[in-house]
Order: sequence, then C-alpha cells, then structure tokens
Amino acid sequence: MSLYAIGDLHLAFSVDKPMDLFDRVWKNHEKKIEKFWNRRIRPEDTVVLTGDHSWGRNLGECTADLEFIMRLPGRKILLRGNHDMFWDAKKTERLNEQFAGRLEFLQNNFYRYQDYALVGTKGYCYEGWDAPEHFEKLMARELARLRTSFEAARAAGFERYLMFLHYPPTSIGEMESPFTQMAEEYGASKVIYSHCHGRERFDDSFKGYVNGIEYKLVSADYLKFKPELIIKE
Ligand SMILES: [Fe+2]
Ligand SMILES: [Fe+2]
Repeated sequence: MSLYAIGDLHLAFSVDKPMDLFDRVWKNHEKKIEKFWNRRIRPEDTVVLTGDHSWGRNLGECTADLEFIMRLPGRKILLRGNHDMFWDAKKTERLNEQFAGRLEFLQNNFYRYQDYALVGTKGYCYEGWDAPEHFEKLMARELARLRTSFEAARAAGFERYLMFLHYPPTSIGEMESPFTQMAEEYGASKVIYSHCHGRERFDDSFKGYVNGIEYKLVSADYLKFKPELIIKE
C-alpha cells in the first residue's frame, strides 16, 4: 500500500512523436516505464502521474496511451500537464465518470491516501516567453484551482497534505512563489512536480527540504523511468 509518483510519460502510441529526438534516454521509453513499473508497483500501491501523459490531441488519440496506463498495476491518479489536450479542466467530472474504477483525475478535488489528502493542480511558472498579463492570468487560475483542492480536503477533515503540481513550484531563480506559499499555508508535507526534462532543466526549482517541506522532482527522464517512492506503507 505504498505511494509512488512519476510524471511526463509522454506516450504516443497513436501519434507520430518520437521522443528520442529530444534525448537518447527517451528511446523506447514506454518499454522502460513498463519494465520498471511492473518491477516496483504492486496492485495495492497508489501511483500519482503528474501530467504530460500523452501527445494525443484529443481523447481518441490518447486512448491507446491511457489504456497502457490502465494496464499497469496499482491505483492510478492523474494530474493535468501542459500537453494533456484531451483533458478539459472544466470536464474533469466527466473523465472521472468515464474512467471510474480505472483512472482517477485530480483537479478541483482531492484523493485520500491513508491519512493524507492528495491535492494538486497543473501549476504554472515563467519560462521566458509569457506576456505579463497572460502569466498573471494563468497563475491566478491555477492558484484558485489548488486552493479549491486544499479546501475540499480540509472540509473533509484532513490535516495532512501531499501537494502535486505538473510545473515546478517556482520559476528559475525564485526562492519562493505563490505555490510554495500555499504549500506552507496549509502545511503540506511534500510538494511533488515534474515537467522539467533534460539535465539542464532538472535544477529549475527546489529539490529537498525548504522551510520544512520536502520538494521532489519526478519527471520520467529524471527518474530514469522508475516510479519514485513517496510514502512507504
Ligand atoms: Fe513534459
Ligand atoms: Fe510539461
């Protein structure tokens, strides 16, 4: 009954998107994911997948990728990434109905793992090309979604939180952000994020303990495609 996380599987069973163009580590990456997942995850474990699941542009193009995830052992909780075009944030409930008993979609809600509430949203950070108004708008929207998730968990009586983001919690060079401040406000134990690919991006944000919160990067290439243990049973 342990909890694991991994993000950015970037599957493409139905579309032509060879990931090894980016880096050789992505060559046959779906085979690596399958091998290490099957080795590490037992059916009673929970895995949070922190976004960028599929390159498909709609649910039809993502079906084979989601089926691949569904066939892997364990309970699977999915977060939205910036590439998850199949997932309209306003229609999360519909996805939860459609995939009930197979996949769970984390957005404006929370899930339980032991006495922790698993909360989260896609998040956002500055990557060098945003107009200030666009950046502010997306930050505000994601912060509102994250607060909704925390508040739903708190209203249900939870006091311990694990916070998941797709984007790193801070922009490059920042020592704090509204996301780290919210993690501290609610007393989250850990903040788990992905999105950062390649050696030159792995240090974009925090890793390790900052103000008593443990920050973990779980992008698939950073983990060498092995799901990361978050809480041991
Ligand atoms: Fe990604
Ligand atoms: Fe991403």
